[in-house]
Parts: sequence; C-alpha cells; structure tokens
Amino acid sequence: MKRILGIQGSPRGERSHSRRLLDHFLQALTAEQRDVEISRREVGRITLPPVTEGWVAAAFSKPHERTLAMHADLALSDELVGELLATDRLVIAAPMYNFGVPSGVKAWIDQIVRIGRTFDFTPEDPVNQYKPRVLGKRGLIITTRGDRGYGPEGVNARLNHADTHLRDVLGLIGITDVEVVAVENDEFGGMAFEDSYQAAQLRLAQLAVDF
Ligand SMILES: Cc1cc2nc3c(=O)[nH]c(=O)nc-3n(C[C@H](O)[C@H](O)[C@H](O)COP(=O)(O)O)c2cc1C
Repeated sequence: MKRILGIQGSPRGERSHSRRLLDHFLQALTAEQRDVEISRREVGRITLPPVTEGWVAAAFSKPHERTLAMHADLALSDELVGELLATDRLVIAAPMYNFGVPSGVKAWIDQIVRIGRTFDFTPEDPVNQYKPRVLGKRGLIITTRGDRGYGPEGVNARLNHADTHLRDVLGLIGITDVEVVAVENDEFGGMAFEDSYQAAQLRLAQLAVDF
C-alpha cells in the first residue's frame, strides 16, 4: 500500500484553487492507483504554533535527557514528523504569499525539520555536515500564484522564494525527487488563468497514474 500525505496550505476554503487542485489530484490518484491510503494535514486554516525557546531547548537536547515539559513542547512536532516519516508521497498545496509560502506552511516546516529526526548534523564531518533522514519518498508541490512569470525562465523567477524554499528544505531532509505544478495569473483571470489552470490539471492527471 502507498501512503500519500496532503498538506493543505491555503487559508481559503472553497475559494482556494490550490486546495481544489489537491482535492482533484487525490481523487484522481485514488481512482488510478487502488492500493493507496490518503491522509491530509491542515496547516492553512488553523494556527500551528511557532517554534518557542522551550521547543528549541527540547529539540537540541538528547532524547533521554528531555524532561516531561520538553516532551510536551515537542509533542506536535513529534506527531507531524511521525506523519511525514510514515508517508511514501508528500503533496504540498499552497499559494504563493509575498514571494514565499504562507505562514502556516512555514510553521509546518519549522515543526518537521528536526535534528536527529528528519536530518542529522555532524559538524565534525566537513564534507557532509548535513545528513538527510527522510529517504525514499517523492514530493509534489501544487502552487497557485496571482501574478505570472515565476517559472525558471520567467520574468519573475528571481522573486520566487516559495519553490526554492520548499525544494531546499525538502532536500535538506532527503526529499529530492520533487516536482512543482503551478497555476499562474489568478489575479488577471480570463484565458490567461484558465490556460494555466488547465495545463496544471493535465499534468496532475498524468501524475495521478504513477506518483
Ligand atoms: C497575502 C497574500 C499575498 C500574496 N502574494 C502574492 C505574491 O507574492 N505573488 C503572487 O503572484 N501572488 C500573490 N498572492 C496571490 C495568491 O498567490 C493567489 O491568489 C493564489 O491563487 C491564492 O491561492 P488559493 O486560491 O489556494 O488561496 C497573494 C495573495 C495574498 C492573499
């Protein structure tokens, strides 16, 4: 059985394009590949707690030295990391916000990038200081944007800190096989948006077969 985890990053509900595309993708994937288990994690419409001083102290302590309070500080992070480690495929659906990711997605990232759980840091090894621990998984980013030209060759490529950030963070923990499917022109609407939306739907339909 293949396990798929969908991260829902938009604060919008039914109006959200990224959320709708994720729903369609997961439905198509379930239809195409029978033996799959889907789970979803909402990070856009709830407030995930930010990392605190207690969290940092706990995360950087050795597990056997943690107090009960430290374990409590890490409880949500442990849950999110466990969920991530248990999945085979990760799909993050989120809009671009201010050239980056929405704060809920950033809060989720801060909770799942965990030393000793999702990566190891070995300063004594000058060649390979960071060692990923989340191996053998594929990632997919479904993103929607108001403006246009954020693709690799586009006029706004330099401003796209969302894809680069997600790719770099996922790469740090070991998810390097990542594709981005983007819809642009939401703010312009019309055919420019429709064409972009349809192209994304087509690519997602292809991915649903063997993702
Ligand atoms: C707070 C905020 C910031 C945004 N920042 C950007 C941006 O930097 N670049 C861009 O192209 N669109 C930006 N947008 C537009 C959204 O990315 C776009 O409307 C997207 O399709 C919304 O996704 P959703 O329908 O899944 O909520 C922003 C929208 C909001 C509300």
